[in-house]
Amino acid sequence: MDKNELIALAWKAAEHAYAPYSNWQVGAALVGEDGKVYTGCNVENASYGLTNCAERTAIFKMVSEGCRKFTAIAVVSGETCNGYPCGACRQVMSEFAADGNVPVYIAGRDGSCLETTMSAILPYAFEKETLLQ
Ligand code: THU
Repeated sequence: MDKNELIALAWKAAEHAYAPYSNWQVGAALVGEDGKVYTGCNVENASYGLTNCAERTAIFKMVSEGCRKFTAIAVVSGETCNGYPCGACRQVMSEFAADGNVPVYIAGRDGSCLETTMSAILPYAFEKETLLQ
């Protein structure tokens, strides 16, 4: 699965975004260690705080299907590549990313893409290893 295919699948997922309050549609697609691609969109709620971001939707779908690690993720929204994952999503991504080198592609409708990594977007992550020491 190459970067552009993953981004295309994230855009497809964004079509299902339920965002009547923000009107900000987000899509995510990730490659699970099981080789499958999991996708997600943001799902808002009239009780705003219950909103689930696209990244977490995709990750929770992966975990609920029995896969616990992903090796790449694409997040798409907006015109240009500045729809960065929020802090809560970074923390959840960090829990399930295969390692800190996992590529994170952040893309916009204009075709631009910021290519970064898990550890670059969340340095000094709070991790399971800390709790289990
Ligand atoms: N959103 C995401 O889906 N992912 C993020 O990382 C940032 C924000 C969604 C939540 C809400 O539905 C909309 O974008 C505006 O905040």
